[in-house]
Amino acid sequence: MTVSRPELEEIVDGLSADQKQISPKYFYDERGSKLFDDITRLPEYYLTNTELGIMRDNIDEIVELVGKQASLIEFGSGSSLKTRVLLEHLSELAAYVPVDISEEHLYASAERIRARFPHIEVIPVVADFTKEFELPEPMVLPIRNVIYFPGSTIGNFEHDMAMELLRVMHHEAGKNGALLIGVDLQKDPEIIESAYNDAAGVTAEFNLNVLEHLNRDYGTNFDVDEFSHSANYDVEKGRVVIELVSHADQKVELGDTQFDIADGEAILTEYSHKYTLEGFREMASAAGFNVEKVWTDANRLFSVQFLMRD
Ligand code: SAH
Ligand code: AVI
Repeated sequence: MTVSRPELEEIVDGLSADQKQISPKYFYDERGSKLFDDITRLPEYYLTNTELGIMRDNIDEIVELVGKQASLIEFGSGSSLKTRVLLEHLSELAAYVPVDISEEHLYASAERIRARFPHIEVIPVVADFTKEFELPEPMVLPIRNVIYFPGSTIGNFEHDMAMELLRVMHHEAGKNGALLIGVDLQKDPEIIESAYNDAAGVTAEFNLNVLEHLNRDYGTNFDVDEFSHSANYDVEKGRVVIELVSHADQKVELGDTQFDIADGEAILTEYSHKYTLEGFREMASAAGFNVEKVWTDANRLFSVQFLMRD
């Protein structure tokens, strides 16, 4: 793979900061994407099954709101698991445009979607959705764009960046466009913490894999065995803090740059924000969206929301 200078700069800047950090987008090499799929099947990871249940229980209403001949543009599509529920019911779709940074995984998923739904034009786009990227033009002219952003991936961004992303989606949705989004909710901290500290250790493997990815594709020399996974829920800030904690004083190199990592020091790899319905409504409205409809499960663990442009 070709490494771009901005990516290298981003990694160096992150590891040079007082609070060392690596962007969560580096979780998703081919192995990382597979490990994420394993996470979605864990008994502790309530997010995926709850969101799928909400989609299935309310599919008629969701389909009605999406309408006919829409272009469905999914940000961070991964394996397009939840999208299948939508595609099974959206009989008249102009196109499905899955957007993801994990290239091989995206193309393999798009192939599976094409095979299952041969009547739908599937146009995968490899892009970092936090940067500008171009949307393809489907063969059939869409009546409207509906952006789909499931999984509560919005929660992996800090407030300013999440706002920025919502504004980008507002722009990409265009006139008459909408956003269908999965948003994880604040709840008993124990439920949240166990979702990110599963007994089988898959989340730990997923977290540590970011170092393998940087070593292989970006030329760092992390000693992966010298780190361990940590995930704690900060109730006040409403977010899980996911880190890799060093077991030793160590030095890591990237090109000519050397980073000192102290015994016990943590590298932040991800936040996973949990929202209140009111808190998310305020963010959506500041980005120019009206919350048209909110669906939740009986235990109010998770929400799926349909947002329209003001
Ligand atoms: N939507 C799926 C997958 C969620 S995992 C679900 O709900 O289960 C997050 C997905 O977003 C991964 O597939 C990852 O590769 C992708 N992703 C994360 N950061 C990204 C970025 N900056 N640009 C594009 N894709 C990104
Ligand atoms: C993709 N994203 C919404 C996941 C989450 O729950 O924040 C990523 C993840 N990190 C650890 N487990 C799952």
